[in-house]
Amino acid sequence: MSDSSSLPIGVFDSGVGGLTVLNALRKRLPSENLLYLGDTARVPYGTKSASSVTRYAEQAATALVERKIKLLVIACNTASAVAVEPLQAIFPQLAVMGVVGPGAEAGCEVTRNNNIGVIATESTVNNQAYQNAILKLNPEASVSAEACSLFVALAEEGWHEGELVERIVDKCLQPLKHRGLGKIDTLVLGCTHFPALKSSIAAVMGEEVALVDSAETTANAVEKTLGQSKLLNLSSEKGEVEFLVTDDPLRFARVATNFFSESIDVGEIQQVDIQHFNTPD
Ligand code: DGL
Repeated sequence: MSDSSSLPIGVFDSGVGGLTVLNALRKRLPSENLLYLGDTARVPYGTKSASSVTRYAEQAATALVERKIKLLVIACNTASAVAVEPLQAIFPQLAVMGVVGPGAEAGCEVTRNNNIGVIATESTVNNQAYQNAILKLNPEASVSAEACSLFVALAEEGWHEGELVERIVDKCLQPLKHRGLGKIDTLVLGCTHFPALKSSIAAVMGEEVALVDSAETTANAVEKTLGQSKLLNLSSEKGEVEFLVTDDPLRFARVATNFFSESIDVGEIQQVDIQHFNTPD
């Protein structure tokens, strides 16, 4: 086991949503130490321009790299859509993994009729991130993408199911259901928050549409990359999780209960300032 294997995996998101990816990492790689950064001062990323999101991602990554990490996971779909390559270029020694690639792969594996739907934030849809990633893997695929930014607020406020939520979800998904590109049989949940609404989305789409969530496939990809670079933590102890946020920890601790399967004590969350970081040359 290399000395670096006990270093944490750095995970960042615009806020709390990346905790769905943290859950999957905890389940798949329980002995790994994890360092999570939620940029809660600047959430949401999903309505911001690609250049702002790339700058935020660079600052978040720099803050994590300064604390020493062995691999970086961009748990935010919006940031993954634009920042994987820039971050990999800035930190060439570090494996940088996003969630869009694994999500697109999972969508391509699951579809039987090559009609894949994607729901994501406005920014992810406009950047064509999933559309391009899916078509690269399967040029025969037909991809319909729909921005559902409203789901982010519903998920954060704990509005996950019930009649009212289903009516809102139904209204947002109507264009996707009726776009006429052929009937989709697979829907990729291309935003960290959407797994929280999975049962309502499933009720609206019907049981013939498979829902794909990139959190698990990302955790599998992380395991594979760490294994290849002999960086897996082989300890028999359960790994530790540390939380950093850029705004008041109180809201993060409260909203986290809607996303994370373990309880987080507000005292364990450290508030940090990352906006002064300039990208290293
Ligand atoms: N984390 C973002 C994503 O997965 C959703 C929240 C936001 O807009 O920042 O795209």
